[in-house]
Amino acid sequence: MNPTTAAGDRYARVIEASKRIRWDIDRDVIRGRNFDFTRKFLPDGISKIDRLGFLGADDRRLLGQIQGRTYANMFGLVERFIGAKMLDISRDHWLGDQTAVEALVRFTDEELKHQELFRRIERMVAEGMPAGYRFLPQPNEVAGLVLGKSTWAVLALTCHIELFVLSHYRSSIDPDGELSELYKDVFLYHWKEESQHAILDELEWRREDAKLMPEQRDQAVTDLIELVAAVDGMLQAQAAADAGYFLGVCRGPYSPEQSQRVREGVLHAYRWQYIVSGVEEPRFQGILGSLISKAQGRRIGEALAPIMAGAYH
Ligand SMILES: [Fe+2]
Ligand SMILES: [Fe+2]
Repeated sequence: MNPTTAAGDRYARVIEASKRIRWDIDRDVIRGRNFDFTRKFLPDGISKIDRLGFLGADDRRLLGQIQGRTYANMFGLVERFIGAKMLDISRDHWLGDQTAVEALVRFTDEELKHQELFRRIERMVAEGMPAGYRFLPQPNEVAGLVLGKSTWAVLALTCHIELFVLSHYRSSIDPDGELSELYKDVFLYHWKEESQHAILDELEWRREDAKLMPEQRDQAVTDLIELVAAVDGMLQAQAAADAGYFLGVCRGPYSPEQSQRVREGVLHAYRWQYIVSGVEEPRFQGILGSLISKAQGRRIGEALAPIMAGAYH
């Protein structure tokens, strides 16, 4: 590709932004600080804790912190397959546009750093919480499943994830003055680099789309539907684990009916966080809608319907 084309220009601007905002885990993000467990990690707009009005104040904070711990772990998880996929598709540019190669190498490098950041966060948060929390999905197992699907579907899922990262930060995390400062900074710095990733996701997704025959795109839509179902399966398992952990260590006491509402509430929140909020993101809808047919859009809508119905909005 000629670097003077519009796409070439966008790769160059991504590199420029990536160089300008590049940060270091210790020097810029952690700065010797620890998490303040007297404060919230996730804003209510993401944790949806306000839907469980019967929880006492300490338990609200605890359940939000458990969700915040999973939120950090979830990004460390998906970044394994995202980084690997970017390294994989950079191959298409190896002997072509060197600006694109550099942009994708920087992307991969940033995701390696983010995984290290989220591993650090998990160790630090674990020190301030009672034992028994478990993060169930294994990065390499999940990556094995995801990377077995077509590149179009993996890029669609990646674009979806990286766009909801941006919208969660902008609409909920940034405006909330009650969060643990370190927790907030983790997602401020993450957001800064993810802004470039979302641009590259779209460029690479469109480039991949242009290579496909209609039958291949139809299969890719099927793959995307299967990926979303796999994500939902993972969310069901993690929501059950997190609700079980909370009910075991919280102050309570809660009735069986209230405990059930906690279990459902965590799942409905996770579905909003990791599926619905991205699907409803206008930028995602715009890109997806420009690549697929009406019939494919209906297929995706039908597959999503039960998940949307069992999620907060
Ligand atoms: Fe990241
Ligand atoms: Fe990213």
